[in-house]
Amino acid sequence: MFGTRKSRDLSGVELQQPWRNRQTFPSGLAQLSRRLRHPRRRLAPQAFATERCLHLRGESFPFLIWPNWANIKDYFNSRTLTVGLLPMVELGVNIDHVATVRQARKTVEPDPVAAAVLAELGGADSITVHLREDRRHILDRDIRVLAETIRSRFNFELCCSPEIVQIACGVRPDQATLVPEKREEITTEGGLDLRSAGKELRNAIAALSDQGIQVSLFIDPDQEQVRLAKELGVQAVELHTGQYAETRGQEQIEQLERLKRASELVLELGLKLHAGHGLTYQNVRPVASIPGMHELNIGHSIVSRSILVGIEKAVREMKYLLNTL
Ligand code: PXP
Repeated sequence: MFGTRKSRDLSGVELQQPWRNRQTFPSGLAQLSRRLRHPRRRLAPQAFATERCLHLRGESFPFLIWPNWANIKDYFNSRTLTVGLLPMVELGVNIDHVATVRQARKTVEPDPVAAAVLAELGGADSITVHLREDRRHILDRDIRVLAETIRSRFNFELCCSPEIVQIACGVRPDQATLVPEKREEITTEGGLDLRSAGKELRNAIAALSDQGIQVSLFIDPDQEQVRLAKELGVQAVELHTGQYAETRGQEQIEQLERLKRASELVLELGLKLHAGHGLTYQNVRPVASIPGMHELNIGHSIVSRSILVGIEKAVREMKYLLNTL
């Protein structure tokens, strides 16, 4: 699973006798010795990768320490191994759809707050929810409870309506992602068009920033939009991956190139690089491999899979109740 990351090695650093403490890599060492006895068996590289987090000025930068296999012999000769530092892409899990299922019956389950806790147990780096003006899925109560319970990072997605901005300012999430919103749309359709950025957008950015909330703008992956985002003084942009996700073949390659060009400019201008919309288990890796990608926000595909991987267990539990009267 880490194969394509090799090309993203940032630098080589020397770790002196990193495995002296066998507790760090017991499974890795066991696998290596098995591999020596059975050379055709493939090593699981994950066994050797360790996850670390660098904390700088209140920000955390997760990365992987990845052994450089070309120098594996050095480890046996000098007990020194050269490794690469690999920046990791953070995963923001959008749980709106959990609330959509609840609202289908206007009942209390499934509770998006419970989903947020479990997503965090699964490793989510942030939880994203979109409080829509029509409250079609996430409700004000969810926002209040999530603000108190999220232990990772809280990414509040919202439009620039003063009412919603005020709610965001009240709960002070870690990040606010501003998106366009139309009542008739099924999901957020396009990015914000910053060419027509009006007073409402500027006021929203100012109000959120005043509360110390990091502001991200959801925009199409166009150079002009990126430049305008920088001018608006935000810290991050989320590039809309919808068109990349919807296309195939050559067209998709072109959309990926478009994302890459916009990403380069985002980094050049000193903004944080986020992306999302329509990403799935099948199409996510090329986007995650874009150099400098900091955060991906994914909802539909994760919630869809969670239903499928969970339904068998849920049925078994109901059968158990029926059969143990
Ligand atoms: N990013 C933004 C700004 C969104 O509006 C959405 C959808 O709510 C997502 C990411 C997640 O998109 P998807 O549900 O297709 O993964």
